[in-house]
Amino acid sequence: EKGGYDWFMRKEIYEQPKAVADTLLGRHGADGQLKLDEIRISESELRAIDKIVIIACGTASYAGLVAKYAIEHWTRVPCEVELASEFRYRDPIVGPTTLVVAISQSGETADTLMAIRHAREQKAKVLAICNTNGSTIPRESDAVIYTHAGPEIGVASTKGFLTQLVACYLLGLYLAQVRGTRFGDEIGSLAAELDKMPAAISAVLADADQVQALAAEFVDAPSVLFLGRHVGYPVALEGALKLKELAYIHAEGFAAGELKHGPIALVEDQLPVFVVVPPQGRDLLHEKVVSNIMEIRARGARTIVLAEQGDTSVAPYADVMISLPKVSTLLQPILAIVPLQIFACELATRKGHDVDQPRNLAKSVTVE
Ligand code: BG6
Repeated sequence: EKGGYDWFMRKEIYEQPKAVADTLLGRHGADGQLKLDEIRISESELRAIDKIVIIACGTASYAGLVAKYAIEHWTRVPCEVELASEFRYRDPIVGPTTLVVAISQSGETADTLMAIRHAREQKAKVLAICNTNGSTIPRESDAVIYTHAGPEIGVASTKGFLTQLVACYLLGLYLAQVRGTRFGDEIGSLAAELDKMPAAISAVLADADQVQALAAEFVDAPSVLFLGRHVGYPVALEGALKLKELAYIHAEGFAAGELKHGPIALVEDQLPVFVVVPPQGRDLLHEKVVSNIMEIRARGARTIVLAEQGDTSVAPYADVMISLPKVSTLLQPILAIVPLQIFACELATRKGHDVDQPRNLAKSVTVE
């Protein structure tokens, strides 16, 4: 059942092109219009929404952070992301014109379930993004977008995360379409770009050797940092989480712009630092991240840089360059996270850990 792989985790990483393709299947027609037939919230209700609150735990919450950037940009509707475990304990402001989006691979996470129950008591509309048909969270929601990752057995989420990202992008573009925002014209081209993601993920997977070599090199590192900015920031958080979950080593993700406000004090000789560089089109942001790389390198860090193919401006400051296919900035997380998943998985297996069932963790946590 592991399909020739030694671990479910590895199998699931390699299944990602298919999982993404399956999640996109049938979601847009030849007319360029998105179709989310499962959304049982009327178009007039979707037009009345004045606030979006995304609630989730762990990896799913990082998909939510990426979604915030995309959804606000495309729809101009204010969007917050909150950890499900915090949500209902702070008297959150939600009501009938709030769309609460609950992201959960398993559909059974108690923190997320309790949060949506609270939201529904306040008459908010709840939409679930979920991978498990008929599970509790979609059953208790007004609407659902199912991801089609197939069963995810490895406790640490991989293909679940990528398909959650895809569902979030589809939701954002769909809301933009329904509400007729200024990005209406771009919906078709972004949907077409999403269709190219499976092939682009395969291209990243084809370079796994380079990442495996890195895992061998850094197997004894006591700590690893991850930096990113804009949608690269949640990627940094997820890269660090994967390493904690699987390899049990200290890892932290930071927003690159925060570096000078504290984290740079952690940088010392030989510290491995992964940096997610925005595509070159985003000039200002790109330039700022490149200068962050220069700063940490000057302090002795080993810089492992994830950047767009052909990005020559960052190459001189990278000890290792991991090239990513060219893609719109907002979609880059789909590609940038893949080498970080492979790194964590390879490093953990080299340490002899069980990557399918890391210590102390459970696939679905059904207690608050
Ligand atoms: C954690 C898992 O307990 O729950 C994580 O270890 C997962 O991998 C998180 O991201 C949320 O789970 P779910 O099923 O709600 O997406």
